[in-house]
Amino acid sequence: MAVTSLISAAEEIRSRCNIVDVVSPLVSIKRAGSNYKGCCPFHKEKTPSFVVSEQKQIFTCFGCGKSGDVIKFIQEYYNLNFPEAVRRLAAQYGIEIDDSYERQSKKKDGYYAINKTAARFFFDAFTKHANPGYDYMKGRGIQPETIAKFGIGYADEGWQTLSDYMLAQGTQAELLTELGLSSRSSKDGRLYDKFRGRVMFPIFNTMGKVIGFGGRTIIGDAAKYLNSQESFVFEKKRNLYGLNLSKTEIQEQGYAILVEGYMDVVGLYQGGVRNVCAALGTALTPEQAQLLKRYTKKAVLCLDSDAAGIKAAIRGCDVMRAAGLDVRVMHVDDGKDPDEYIKKHGADEFRALLDKTAETDIDFKIGLIDRKYSGTDLSQSLNFLKAAANVLRPLSPVEADLYIPKVAKMRGISEGALRREIEQPSAEVPRPAPRTEQENAPQEQSVEDTPEVRGRIMVERMLIKLCLQRSDFWPKLQGRDDAFVSGEAYRIAEVLGECYRENNDFDVKAIRERLEGSALSYFDNIQEGVLTGDEETAFRDCLEKLDRRKAEQRIDEIMKILSIAEGVDEETLNKLMLELAELQRKFIK
Ligand code: CTP
Ligand code: MN
Repeated sequence: MAVTSLISAAEEIRSRCNIVDVVSPLVSIKRAGSNYKGCCPFHKEKTPSFVVSEQKQIFTCFGCGKSGDVIKFIQEYYNLNFPEAVRRLAAQYGIEIDDSYERQSKKKDGYYAINKTAARFFFDAFTKHANPGYDYMKGRGIQPETIAKFGIGYADEGWQTLSDYMLAQGTQAELLTELGLSSRSSKDGRLYDKFRGRVMFPIFNTMGKVIGFGGRTIIGDAAKYLNSQESFVFEKKRNLYGLNLSKTEIQEQGYAILVEGYMDVVGLYQGGVRNVCAALGTALTPEQAQLLKRYTKKAVLCLDSDAAGIKAAIRGCDVMRAAGLDVRVMHVDDGKDPDEYIKKHGADEFRALLDKTAETDIDFKIGLIDRKYSGTDLSQSLNFLKAAANVLRPLSPVEADLYIPKVAKMRGISEGALRREIEQPSAEVPRPAPRTEQENAPQEQSVEDTPEVRGRIMVERMLIKLCLQRSDFWPKLQGRDDAFVSGEAYRIAEVLGECYRENNDFDVKAIRERLEGSALSYFDNIQEGVLTGDEETAFRDCLEKLDRRKAEQRIDEIMKILSIAEGVDEETLNKLMLELAELQRKFIK
């Protein structure tokens, strides 16, 4: 979409604008054979050596060596950067630059603001005066700091409390219903509150924006928890509760604990176990697993030990394994869920329990099967063998080898028998292949982007990210006008330049203050991703990619220049030939 729209616009310009039409009003050129010739606007000369080729759509000066396409010409002529030149030509030729990214991000900002106002309203109702919500949470041992940290609030029992307040703030009724904060009465059309008599848990995305709410009833409503409906800003399957607070801790500790409910997250966090998050009242989705994978490669599932919890654990294991996470399952027996456990035993004991009980997803599944077919008779053992083989079959041979001896021993089966069973074709549908990094690229990017465009966007994102972590990389990017390709990245680079000049360092807060609109959301989005591996190597990789791309473009350009070089002196030709040979030697294998 629009992060890349500038590049698409550039393509459109190249295919639609005739370079001769663009150059001729600015430089006096005359037809000379199949080309046009004039005095170079970029250096002083008396005999014309500036050539424009209509056929190849390039300009070149055999005097000063400047050359390029129509966009490059406008850049050089007016001293503009790439986005400025593209915008100028686009405006001139009536080419619309798709600003849907900008529009969407503005729209999102509006929704976030409404949710934030509502969250603030619930929070004030909860903390400023006595209310049953507060008493309820106090009764559950939740402390004021925790309440503030999670922004927990209270929606009273009234039918119009929030709706009236929001309308008085000037919020459009349609937006309130769209966000699932209010509904319209079918009788009189009045707005009424969706959340009533509930403790409110605002749900934040990892950028810290309020995207929705979960509300727990304190008046015995049939639905214990009510979640905001899906909306433009709230996609349950793509978010995890608590991750905004826990992501750093998850990175630092090297693993995430995944629990079932809001109160489990809040309880563990308050108890001092802070690398925790929860799915949003749904079974864990592949998208959530991918989100988690941005921060860690390891996850420990800690679900309630009731039947529903176990079923959720089995599914959760599969989803996380498919995402390439290393999965463990831990068991909380004393007290039915993690929240109650930590309240009773504290963080140290919780961690000890984790160390003691966490087993791999495979061990967990085998254990379940072992209990299911616990009888000693032959048919039970056969069932065990078949079910265990089903668990081991999708594993790589190396991983399967780790389990085979142990599993065989559990029932006194020979390893050979188990292996033969595993080698039987499975009746189950094969598991889908794990998704590639490309497919996990940020949502904002358009599906119709070419791999080339995606590659360029990936490099610019990586470079920005690397510079934020290592400001000493920044000076090394100077003069690399090819490093950034999207309008957003150009704007971010401008701000980075300013900040670097002032402090020789980068402060995310200061940078954010200078950005707005789509550049700001692009910036936040870039920061989201987690860098793995060595920074130096990553930086070198990016530069290498840029060099290669530049070389390819230049080779293409030189070929064109050579093809239009009529009556050009030997020396200039030789220089170009040498440059070409050098580039080809270095970059074309
Ligand atoms: N849930 C839901 N809708 C319900 C019940 C549960 O969305 N009607 C989701 C909520 O995200 C909840 C989680 O499932 O946090 C776990 O539910 P449950 O185990 O019933 O609740 P607890 O987390 O134990 O909540 P509490 O301790 O407040 O009873
Ligand atoms: Mn509970």
